[in-house]
Amino acid sequence: MAKIVRLDPIGQETSVPTNDNLLSALLKNELKVLHECGGRGMCATCHIFIKDGMEHLSPMSRRERRTLGVITTCKLNSRLACQSKVMGEGVVVELPAGMYLSDVSDIESLIGRRAEENILHPLDGRVLVEAGKLITRSMISQLEETRSDVSTHLANSQLV
Ligand code: FES
Repeated sequence: MAKIVRLDPIGQETSVPTNDNLLSALLKNELKVLHECGGRGMCATCHIFIKDGMEHLSPMSRRERRTLGVITTCKLNSRLACQSKVMGEGVVVELPAGMYLSDVSDIESLIGRRAEENILHPLDGRVLVEAGKLITRSMISQLEETRSDVSTHLANSQLV
């Protein structure tokens, strides 16, 4: 049977088949959730906050706990959408503010512009560039380095 989940960012309710994960519910509603690691519980890009109904989600696995442990914006109500299966009614989800670095398709084009929203690290969720800050060339090389570190990290973890 399906369960109703509320997506706070867009003030919408959606029906999720019992035991389906929250990531599919978010994607189905066209919410921008990167799922950089492909739903393996290893990145920050599907990090969400559960505003209500945490008890109606599947319990946290060791891997999810470990990944949340490195996410700097993690709170008591944090979960990874790809690892959270919906078991009951009344779950309310909120997304962290900002965009993940991996979602910026052309970093170079940001030079000389102000960040429209916080740019976040795809593995630990930390703010790399604050919203409103002018993006300089030196920032760009750091961002590019971060981006390649992240791909290497995720590629290596595929082997584990
Ligand atoms: S998609 Fe990477 S942890 Fe969920």
